[in-house]
Amino acid sequence: MSLLDGKVVVISGGAGLLGRRFSLAVAQAGGLAVVADRDLDAARAVVGTIQADGGQAEAAPSDITDGDALDGLIADLHERHGRIDAVVNSAYPRNANYGRKLEEVTYADFCANTGLHLGGYFLVAQRFALYFRDQGGGAIVNLASIYGTLAPRFDIYAGTSMTMPVEYAAIKSAVIQLTRYFAQYFKADGVRVNALSPGGILDCQPQAFLDRYDAHCGGKGMLEAEDVAGALLFLLSDDARYVTGQNLIVDDGFSL
Ligand SMILES: NC(=O)c1ccc[n+]([C@@H]2O[C@H](COP(=O)([O-])OP(=O)(O)OC[C@H]3O[C@@H](n4cnc5c(N)ncnc54)[C@H](O)[C@@H]3O)[C@@H](O)[C@H]2O)c1
Repeated sequence: MSLLDGKVVVISGGAGLLGRRFSLAVAQAGGLAVVADRDLDAARAVVGTIQADGGQAEAAPSDITDGDALDGLIADLHERHGRIDAVVNSAYPRNANYGRKLEEVTYADFCANTGLHLGGYFLVAQRFALYFRDQGGGAIVNLASIYGTLAPRFDIYAGTSMTMPVEYAAIKSAVIQLTRYFAQYFKADGVRVNALSPGGILDCQPQAFLDRYDAHCGGKGMLEAEDVAGALLFLLSDDARYVTGQNLIVDDGFSL
């Protein structure tokens, strides 16, 4: 018996760097991966890869900032599958100005980016938690980050065009506390809510940055998406049936 046999798991942002690896991992663990993403073509491509690997998956259009669309997705899945077991909040919405240095971030951009990301994660968690309460249980995993708890290490970005956006610190720390709020609110209803905080994920970053980043780590340095998938499967599985309100950090020791 596999870890997620027969479970219906929605991966929001399922076509992204982490989301597509999470979707594959869910299917390889015996679950049905619902690859929900604003980019439907990319979601369909992920589904094709999973099906070629022998797994079960389906694509769904999704916008985490649209409550009616989320309700429609939940209703459609319930009608076709009779239940939904879990949702993973792994979308990464941002506006065109996201990623600027602190001096250049306007009030409008700060509000827009926190609204899209934190607001969207709230909406997904709210809509699914209410469904899970009616169903008698379910699991929510919110993607946070090491930068939700750790002060930024600005020195590792020196000489690159990259930074650790100020909105990101606000969003990810709030996602961790939102996780605790939801876990406490729904703990009598069988709804488990946890955060998963990966370190940085390899994605063609400059070598000088990687060298400085890796110096803070243990055996591997910056991780690949697949290095985080096992922790997600655990949080989604019945092995974690008594784990709720926690923030699981997977970063090869970077934040120590
Ligand atoms: N990549 C990293 O290094 C890293 C590290 C730690 C935490 N995280 C977190 O993991 C999560 C996923 O990150 P990623 O690197 O896979 O991001 P990504 O940009 O690669 O993918 C995000 C996905 O979200 C989708 N999306 C964007 N806006 C959406 C919306 N409004 N509704 C639905 N889908 C939408 C995009 O189409 C994309 O497929 C984020 O919460 C991110 O903060 C990432």
